[in-house]
Amino acid sequence: HILTNKNILGVYAGENAAESIKKAIKSNGTANIILATGSSQFETLNYLIADKEIEWSKVRMFHLDEYIGINQYHKASFRKYLIERFLNKVSPLMETILINGENDALEECKRISNLIMKYSIDVALVGIGENGHLAFNDPPADFETEKPFLIVNLNNECKQQQVNEGWFNELNEVPNQAISMSIKQIMKSKKIICSVPDKRKAIAVEHCIKNQVSNLFPASILQLHPSCDIYLDYDSASNL
Ligand code: GLP
Repeated sequence: HILTNKNILGVYAGENAAESIKKAIKSNGTANIILATGSSQFETLNYLIADKEIEWSKVRMFHLDEYIGINQYHKASFRKYLIERFLNKVSPLMETILINGENDALEECKRISNLIMKYSIDVALVGIGENGHLAFNDPPADFETEKPFLIVNLNNECKQQQVNEGWFNELNEVPNQAISMSIKQIMKSKKIICSVPDKRKAIAVEHCIKNQVSNLFPASILQLHPSCDIYLDYDSASNL
């Protein structure tokens, strides 16, 4: 879907997500969802918060990725983002699984991997990084690992993007590692809703949509998903 601007894109993605959640609740009694963070998700989350028909007490939420070693009060913390922009604004969920990047990272990966393995995911909301990353799977991404969550190294390009987006003041403040949901785990979601606004994403979008699937542009894997909706604006779609 190519839409005029970022706000409209978020609304359409939000509408799609809301319908998918309601549909899952109707057919299974519950909905298992994955939420991403980043500016691409602002309007989508606002749409979900405003939809008063969603029965949040029947929703289980997993969290896509988190920095290692950052506390939840740091402005870049993804759990801070989800708590402040989403969880505090909806009625309590059935279960909320946030990644705690301050716990022992290996143990934390095991903990959340064991939890997510118990469920099939109905809908995942994701974005794409400027370097084509999906969650924190930077290029070259591991397309093969069966681990649901893994520890990943953040490359300098990725770190610089986080500084450019204003989440950190300088490069050396950005952690070297993160816990990320794996590519295979993301791809297991029955539906994927991917929002990619802004000119800065045009090259990543071009490689991920037009070119062959390659772990050098991790989000290109979405081409292989049977039910993935990608929302672009005119700027991010400008190289297509
Ligand atoms: C970070 C996250 C990704 C996210 C990306 C997109 O790098 N690790 O999961 O997809 O930001 O950012 P934005 O939402 O600003 O486009």
